[in-house]
Amino acid sequence: MKRKVKIAPSILSADFAKLSDEIRKILSAGADWIHLDIMDGNFVPNLTFGPPVISALRPHATLPFDTHLMIERPEEWFQKYKDAGSDRITFHLEAVKHAQRHLINLKELKIAAGISLNPQTGLDGLEYLLPYCDQVLIMTVNPGFGGQSLIEPVVNKISKLRKMIDEMNLSVLIEVDGGVDANNAQRIFNAGADVLVMGSAFFKSKDQFSLVRDIKSACGN
Ligand code: DX5
Ligand code: ZN
Repeated sequence: MKRKVKIAPSILSADFAKLSDEIRKILSAGADWIHLDIMDGNFVPNLTFGPPVISALRPHATLPFDTHLMIERPEEWFQKYKDAGSDRITFHLEAVKHAQRHLINLKELKIAAGISLNPQTGLDGLEYLLPYCDQVLIMTVNPGFGGQSLIEPVVNKISKLRKMIDEMNLSVLIEVDGGVDANNAQRIFNAGADVLVMGSAFFKSKDQFSLVRDIKSACGN
């Protein structure tokens, strides 16, 4: 089946004083998901927001809420992030010991389940987890901050993962997060990505509608 790119703007780069207006921009730009970056000051050296902010934003958006947990012990928070309005939850492999168990827990919560890999984390052993995943998020920067440059060698990991998923005949989505912009989006899609997270590139753009439209058309949808 032909892959179709999805764009998921991250509100990490939005104006936090005007979040509902910023969400409106994501909706009118024609994006697909809203990416919510949760940081705890431990797993990553930065802090963002938690379930109360997600609950407050939920009535302002009809798009899926894609919650990216960059936190220690993420499994203790699944229920709270689901109750706040998340449709999809991704946790980091580096933050847990029993990833398969946590993926099953997310499925039991009737929520799309994802794992994320830091730039230096390889694909070893992933064949045992992919059957339980709805998505795998490949970090193309070290997590913690928006506005960093994409780490080039990681693009190769996207292609390897694409091959692995296709060979296993699975429909797991590959999401790519960090330093994605109008210049590299098509290349990342061609490497095998399904979902492109965009923080600073989206919120810095003067014409977000054209940005989303042009990336989608460059990727063939
Ligand atoms: C970084 C976050 C990203 C971030 C991406 O740790 O996971 O989602 O918002 O921002 P840009 O697109 O600016 O690299
Ligand atoms: Zn993210």
